[in-house]
Amino acid sequence: MKRKFSFFFCLLVTLLSAQQLVLAQQKYTSFTPGKIWKDDKGVHINAHGGGIVEYKGTYYWFGEHKVEGGKGNTAQVGVHCYSSKDLYNWKDEGISLAVSDDLKSDIAKGCILERPKVVYNKKTKKFVMWFHLELLGKSYEAARAGVAVADKPTGPYTFIKSYRPNAGKMPFYAEGTPDAEKVNCEKPANKSDGFFCRDLPGGQMARDMTVFVDDDGKAYHVFSSEENFTLHLAELSPDYLSHTGKFIRIYVGQQTEAPALFKKNGIYYMVGSGCTGWAPNPARWFKATSIWGPWTFMGNPCEGPGANITYGGQSTHVLPAPGKKGEFIFMADKWEPKNAIDGRYLWLPIKFEGEKIKINWQDEWDLNTFDK
Ligand code: GAL
Repeated sequence: MKRKFSFFFCLLVTLLSAQQLVLAQQKYTSFTPGKIWKDDKGVHINAHGGGIVEYKGTYYWFGEHKVEGGKGNTAQVGVHCYSSKDLYNWKDEGISLAVSDDLKSDIAKGCILERPKVVYNKKTKKFVMWFHLELLGKSYEAARAGVAVADKPTGPYTFIKSYRPNAGKMPFYAEGTPDAEKVNCEKPANKSDGFFCRDLPGGQMARDMTVFVDDDGKAYHVFSSEENFTLHLAELSPDYLSHTGKFIRIYVGQQTEAPALFKKNGIYYMVGSGCTGWAPNPARWFKATSIWGPWTFMGNPCEGPGANITYGGQSTHVLPAPGKKGEFIFMADKWEPKNAIDGRYLWLPIKFEGEKIKINWQDEWDLNTFDK
């Protein structure tokens, strides 16, 4: 009797572990926006507010590692990294930038560290990570940009510094910009100009952000500034580790957040959102023929039901579709502020009509969409 029992027990254990193996190794062949998306270990991907960098045929996805419950949106762990060859199946590469146990560190455990973006510098052969940083216990007051560096895409990343960019610098204006459009700190024309002038000596606020590398290898940091009223697009130094002091202001006073940039046929495109915290709002897009502007506001790229709230999401990155020249994937976060770890990812194909972009909801899709 005892022997029979242990035989069946062993059989059960074997069957269960085989089943788990199958579950853990479930292969994805499509994107299902808003659904649980498991990594190679069978765990929902934890890389929110993220971005993706491609290096030697592998894609690396970096994002905020969120935790359960009330502290979920603070940085209790750091920046999580995953890798993939096909964009559907992701391998957990662990924490690439860890928060510090030293409470005096800028990136002390419990700080706010959002929207990490990694870019590769071909000249220095380093991977550079920029992120929005808020100091421990100071809510969203600090509004700093943070930077870290690594020799390998997955890290570990070494934190270098955090600061408010472009202290003492006035914006760059294209030739012929009328004086009336230039910020005048003797007489600020509006609220946003006022915040700009207030922050001029100490550096400009830097919250929601992205980094964009142009074809010529120059990198730009794009961030919500001036109490989130105006976007700044600022040039980075050749090593990508600091700001050069050259920058423009985009869509002054209109509260654009969550910027994501890409380029097609010499045209620059940017998708962003409005400013309503974790709650979704309509996406917005901009177009420019020069990185230095003018950037033209083009309205909401989303269409159909849910377009007025970006289908419940907020932009975070736009990724060139692998092997599909001139095609792009819109990446957004569906935040779950009450249980941040349960936040979902909305990836959708971008459709072009000439130089216009459109985004439509899809329950399920794959990269063949771009061939249709
Ligand atoms: C959002 C922003 C997020 C986060 C959040 C905090 O508007 O895009 O990255 O900062 O506000 O409320």
